[in-house]
Amino acid sequence: MISTEEKDIIINFTQEELKEIRDIIWKQTGIYIEDNKLYLLNYKVGSRLKKLDIKPREYVRLLNDSVSEEIKEIINSITIGETQFFRDKIQLDIFFDKIFREYLKDYKGEEISFLSAGCSTGEEPYTIAIYLLEKFPLINFKVVGVDINENFISKAKEGIYGIYSVRSTPPYIFTKYFERLDDSTWKIKEDVKKKVQLERVNLMDRVRVKLLGKFDVIFCKNVIIYFDDSSRNKLAETFWSILKKGGFLVLGPAERISIISLIFEPLFDSGMFFYKKVEKSGEFL
Ligand SMILES: C[S@@+](CC[C@H](N)C(=O)[O-])C[C@H]1O[C@@H](n2cnc3c(N)ncnc32)[C@H](O)[C@@H]1O
Repeated sequence: MISTEEKDIIINFTQEELKEIRDIIWKQTGIYIEDNKLYLLNYKVGSRLKKLDIKPREYVRLLNDSVSEEIKEIINSITIGETQFFRDKIQLDIFFDKIFREYLKDYKGEEISFLSAGCSTGEEPYTIAIYLLEKFPLINFKVVGVDINENFISKAKEGIYGIYSVRSTPPYIFTKYFERLDDSTWKIKEDVKKKVQLERVNLMDRVRVKLLGKFDVIFCKNVIIYFDDSSRNKLAETFWSILKKGGFLVLGPAERISIISLIFEPLFDSGMFFYKKVEKSGEFL
C-alpha cells in the first residue's frame, strides 16, 4: 500500500534502476515485483531516497553494500502484513480436528513444535497457540513465529491488537484469551504469549532457517503469493528439510507450489489440501 506521504514524492528512477532494485530484493527475499508494479516500488524507494537525501544511483549502490542496513529498511517498507486472528477458520478447523488429531495418535508427551513462517504481526502464531490450548490441553507444545519485517515482529511481541485484527475471533475465545485495554484495544493473555517465540528471520536464508530446529507442522500462508516460482520451490525444499518425519506443511487454501508433490504427499480433506512430508534419501543444500 502507498501512503499519501509517499504519493507526494516525485522521484523518478529509471526503469533499469527499478529493475536492478527489484532484483536485489528478489535475490534476498524471494519477493518478485512484476514489471507492471514497478511504479509502486518507485514510491517506496523514493520515500527512502528523500529521507536519506541521496541520488537514485547512490541508493542502488547502498542497497548492494553488504554492510549497509538499507536493504532491511526497504524490505520493511515493501512487505505486506495483511492478517487477522482466525483467518481461514474452516481450514484451521479441518486441520486441527482431523489431520493433526490423527498425527497425535501415538503421542507420548514429547514437545510438539509449530512454525508460523511469515507470521506478520503475530495473529497467526497466537491463533495456532489458542487452537492447541483449546483442543489439545494436555500436549506439550511451542509455536515459533518468524517474519522478515522487524517492525512486524516488534508488534507481534507486544501482542496488542485493534478491532480489525480480532474481528473474526469467536466471542468465547475472545473473553478467555484476550485482556481488554480500552474500547478498541486488546492484549493477548500471558498463557498464550508464553507459548509463542517470535524472531526476525528471512525464509530464503536456508542456513538461518535450519537453526530454528525441526518442526511437526509448518504454516506458511499468504507469503508465497509474492514469490516467483523458483523461490517457492526453494522454500518448499527448506520446509521439507526442517519438518520432522511425517510432519505437515499448511499453505493458504488457494496456494500451490509446482514441485510440492515430488517431496510431499498432498492430502485432500473437506475441500482443502494439506502436505505431508515424504521421506527421500539425501538433503537439500
Ligand atoms: C500477507 S502476510 C501473511 C501473514 C499470515 N501468514 C497470514 O496468512 O495471515 C505475509 C508476510 O510474509 C512476510 N514475508 C515475505 N517474505 C518473507 C521472507 N523472505 N521471509 C520471512 N517473511 C517474509 C511479510 O513480511 C509478511 O508479514
